Amino acid sequence: MMKIATLASMLTLSLNVFAAPVEIKFSHVVAENTPKGQMALKFKELVEQRLPGEYKVSVFPNSQLFGDNNELAALLLNDVQLVAPSLSKFERYTKKLQVFDLPFLFEDMAAVDRFQQSEAGQKLLTSMRRKGLLGLGYLHNGMKQFSANDPLTLPSDAKGKKFRIMASDVIAAQFDAVDAIPVKKPFSEVFTLLQTRAIDGQENTWSNIYSKKFYEVQSHITESNHGVLDYMIVTSDAFWNSLPKDKRQIIKDSLDEAIALGNKIAMTKNEEDKQAILNSKRTQLVTLTPAQRQQWVAIMKPVWAKFEDKVGKDVIRAAEAANN
Ligand code: LMR
Repeated sequence: MMKIATLASMLTLSLNVFAAPVEIKFSHVVAENTPKGQMALKFKELVEQRLPGEYKVSVFPNSQLFGDNNELAALLLNDVQLVAPSLSKFERYTKKLQVFDLPFLFEDMAAVDRFQQSEAGQKLLTSMRRKGLLGLGYLHNGMKQFSANDPLTLPSDAKGKKFRIMASDVIAAQFDAVDAIPVKKPFSEVFTLLQTRAIDGQENTWSNIYSKKFYEVQSHITESNHGVLDYMIVTSDAFWNSLPKDKRQIIKDSLDEAIALGNKIAMTKNEEDKQAILNSKRTQLVTLTPAQRQQWVAIMKPVWAKFEDKVGKDVIRAAEAANN
């Protein structure tokens, strides 16, 4: 006679065969031909290859499902399970990540990477745990450039101009420092705001300026490399803990592999996209001399002091140390 336990496990097996796969929704705001867009698609491919029929990843790019104003709230409501906002968009949940917005802090992307992988950088992944958010890893995009409808060569060129910024008080202070007018707006609105001249300029990576066609509606781009635009891939503690341990590991490994690919793409994509923008001849490149760039540094770097208590001097020091 068939044992009851065997019968039960057969029943579970057959139920599993017919059960719909668990859906992991991954929402983001950029185009698919970007480091983040490609990373999300790789993640989908790996999870569905490794957990066939059990897990399904649905990727929603271009703010299709949620945008800047609601994606983190949606995550906490479990309406989406993974999002990857830029590090500038977490200030309602932690002030510590504002370290990444401090102007002229990181010399290059290698320094950003060293800081993210350091003990201090890794600690920031769990800095929002009390709010129910869990960072699973960092993803690179690249260094930010200024764009506008006039050449921005000296800080005084920005005076009185309206710049779209991400929702970050540090970035607001950075533009206040040059007597410009920062306007916090979601990414999905930037193109129209620039096209209609409701705002004069913005700051972003070459990849975002290219994939969202900002260069078609901005006459000049200043290669300032004044700050970093990177991401944290976040989930909710509740969703993450609801996953069976073995599946969770497979999903985490898949994410790590997808991030590695996204980081590789980020390294080449910004250079390629910069070149494509220049080839288009739709906009002009402003290259700063060291003395001109130094003027931007001198006027924007004092912003750090305003935020060092909230961010933590230790965090800022650890980030600075990554430059060496
Ligand atoms: C922006 O809002 O400019 C960026 O954070 C968009 C993105 O996700 O790269």
